[in-house]
Amino acid sequence: MDVSDPTLVLLRALHVAALCFGFGSLVALLVLAPAGTARFAIIRLAMIALVAGLLTLVPWFAWQSAAIAEISGLGELPGAMTTVLMQTWFGTVVFVSGLLLASALLLCRFGLTRWALLPAALALVSEAASGHAVNGKGFILAAEILHLLAAGAWLGALPALFLLLRGSEASLMAQRFSGLGMAAVGIIAGSALALASAQIGGLGGLFGTGYGRVILLKLGLFAVLLAMACLNRVVLTPMLGRKATILRTSVLVEIVLGFSIVTVASWLAALPPAVHQQPVWPFAWRPSLAIILQAVNDAPQVAAEPVLAAMALAVVWSLVVVAAMWHREWKVSFVVAVLVTIFSVPHLAPLLVPAYPTSFYRSTTTGDATSVAAGAVLFAANCAACHGPVGRGDGPLTRSLAVPPADLTAQHLLDHEDGELFWWISHGIDRAPGPDGVPRQAMPGFAGSLDDISTWQLIDFIRANNPYLNPDTRNRSSGGAPHAHTN
Ligand code: HEC
Repeated sequence: MDVSDPTLVLLRALHVAALCFGFGSLVALLVLAPAGTARFAIIRLAMIALVAGLLTLVPWFAWQSAAIAEISGLGELPGAMTTVLMQTWFGTVVFVSGLLLASALLLCRFGLTRWALLPAALALVSEAASGHAVNGKGFILAAEILHLLAAGAWLGALPALFLLLRGSEASLMAQRFSGLGMAAVGIIAGSALALASAQIGGLGGLFGTGYGRVILLKLGLFAVLLAMACLNRVVLTPMLGRKATILRTSVLVEIVLGFSIVTVASWLAALPPAVHQQPVWPFAWRPSLAIILQAVNDAPQVAAEPVLAAMALAVVWSLVVVAAMWHREWKVSFVVAVLVTIFSVPHLAPLLVPAYPTSFYRSTTTGDATSVAAGAVLFAANCAACHGPVGRGDGPLTRSLAVPPADLTAQHLLDHEDGELFWWISHGIDRAPGPDGVPRQAMPGFAGSLDDISTWQLIDFIRANNPYLNPDTRNRSSGGAPHAHTN
């Protein structure tokens, strides 16, 4: 299946957007409770969206079936669709979702809009059942469902809000909507955090994989949308009488932004999650929690600077949010927050350590006894000449080297990520240039002679051999001095 097929992504996005608008319009009916003709307009909107949901289901399903069955001509399409419908989980989900949409539509037709909410919500939730989350743990599925429902309620209700802002009750509607919006944004952010931790696996996955970078794009769009929503609430809603057109235009822009977020989300659903890929770190630095924890223990005066800067940032930005929610002094607190940010960001530098493209690589071996034993053999053959038979940095070649080999039994080894050891063993270590200006090679790289698995086995051995990680080897420690690297 060609997972990055843009047509598939767009068809799915259209379908999900229709589901959101159907569900969201019904939510708007319940929460904003418009009266009279406005109510009928929103019911009509909900029905149009539900019909669109049914109509978009067909081409999306056809395209997806063609991709799953890898058909070669249009003539094979009906057969492929029947097979996928009858024999796959995805087919079952699509079938049930079609039934749910049809029943929601019928209930709306007879004015039973509260009852229609349930099938409309379930149809939206069925999206989670056809994506990645279904392979994960229960809590991930729960987070995905909450995420979809909250996003559907908020984004999906925007077209209804747009219509209602034309009516006589515009300011009441806008006020009721902001309550709905705040609750939804809270749920969206919370569930996104849970999903991200499960599917990205940390900073490395976020910046180092295609999946993570699409998440960053989604986050960026969400941030713009959120900023607009805040602006609407804080600035435009209070002066609704005079500025109704501006508020409506801004809601229209929000709808477009919302649709682009749904499109990006559909794209994500087609990509393999970051946790299944080796992240390639794009920066020369990375933040290190270990560094700060160590500094807090060893030298509190050094740690104070970045910790205070981070705390100052957290405090001022929380104040901005609180001020905006209470409509008090938010402009002043915003300016203060920007100033504090400009001032404190440079003080966060001690939290950064040098990083390499492989810094966030995860080992592909298990670290079990077999792997450690294989690593020991490789170590004796490739490394012992410099690092010594047990890795204390006292091999026979030591005397001829410009830089003394590192003591691999020292506590300092704990400070390095697996991915960093991987980089040094593969690419070698250069030291700062000597007096002649030429960088000196401290250790050669082994990428040419050792494959990835061997390198991970060596790391398994080095870890198992280090007394600070493995108490069985405690008597080998020499407490050697830490090494500093420049590449
Ligand atoms: C030619 C000698 C030489 C050989 C062979 C060699 N190393 Fe090194 N290694 C060094 C030197 C010198 C350093 C210290 C570099 C520095 O301090 O900048 C070092 C540093 C390291 C470090 C960094 C440790 C730390 O805590 O900072 C690791 C890990 C390492 N070597 C592993 C290996 C492995 C595994 C092999 C075998 C595949 C190997 N080395 C082979 C000379 C060598």
